[in-house]
Amino acid sequence: MGWAIELERTTSPKQKPKVSELGFGKYFTDHMFIMNYDEGQGWHHPRIVPYQPISLDPAAKVFHYGQTVFEGLKAYRTADNRIRLFRPSKNLQRLNLSNDRLSIPEIDEQLFLEALLSLVRVDSDWIPGEPETSLYIRPFVIANEPLLGVSPSKQYLFMIILSPVGSYYAEGINPVSIHVESHYVRAVEGGVGTAKTAGNYAAGLKAQEGASEKGYTQVLWLDGVHRRYVEEVGSMNVFFKIGDTVVTPQLNGSFLAGITRDSTLQLLRHWGVPVEERPITIDELVEACRSGELKEAFGTGTAAVISPIGELSYRDEKLVIGSGETGPVSKRLYDTLTGIQYGRVEDPFGWMMEL
Ligand code: COI
Repeated sequence: MGWAIELERTTSPKQKPKVSELGFGKYFTDHMFIMNYDEGQGWHHPRIVPYQPISLDPAAKVFHYGQTVFEGLKAYRTADNRIRLFRPSKNLQRLNLSNDRLSIPEIDEQLFLEALLSLVRVDSDWIPGEPETSLYIRPFVIANEPLLGVSPSKQYLFMIILSPVGSYYAEGINPVSIHVESHYVRAVEGGVGTAKTAGNYAAGLKAQEGASEKGYTQVLWLDGVHRRYVEEVGSMNVFFKIGDTVVTPQLNGSFLAGITRDSTLQLLRHWGVPVEERPITIDELVEACRSGELKEAFGTGTAAVISPIGELSYRDEKLVIGSGETGPVSKRLYDTLTGIQYGRVEDPFGWMMEL
């Protein structure tokens, strides 16, 4: 079914940033998508309007009780100027899983997809074409009912904004160093750890600040009960190559089921690399590192792509992984995944959607 998405074009297009200054999430395109939800009416009035600030009542529930969810995906420009999205249906489904966990009403996936594609089309000249650049797409929902009672909001806004981006980490595709957090925890099973919701990220800031003061790029979270099992890094899932096997924590409901994580697993299995999704303790990693069996580590994420990890710090120990350089599996995954995304290599799984 087609949806009537209104379009109001900007009369004052912005100047586009220089590619060398893109960084991540600093610049926003000329338009945004917005749609309202009101109890009794459902989701209504989908529209694309000039990018602008929104006005919210100070009592809006999102400010007080954090009822909000988000997604992240990217549009890529190929060398022959086609525009492609990577597995967008996965993001639509995951947003609704997050919605469900946060008691936010479901969004029709067809409408979501149409909104997303229409917005990217309107701002397609913002999609950079240089290597390692893309258009980051940030859909999100906020509860905007002005009421201080703790109950699910009766009003919401669903919005999509777009940001031309380069690398998420200053290191680019060079290895990052990660601090293993042994004091703070991010989430526990049964909580909201697997939902893409603001509170999970806010809960991680204190530890991230501490890690960054010590010179580390990110935090590796351990499970919230035993502080032994490896879960995820703040903005990515995590993989380790121990001996010949690539291992990653199995999904347990307390960390994000990443779409790049799933794609990585599919690629590794397709190549015949032994892969295990299972509980991994930090002690196992320390031991494997000491014995020389920990050959590689890398993070996976939409923003981070495949991000090699050169060093972990745990308590007072520095663990240099492999040679501290990008390992062959990380490199092959990075080249293949970005190759598929930018149309340089075949897409055997049918992951890309042409605009
Ligand atoms: C993503 O990779 O899209 C994320 O949402 C991670 C981060 C920027 C919060």
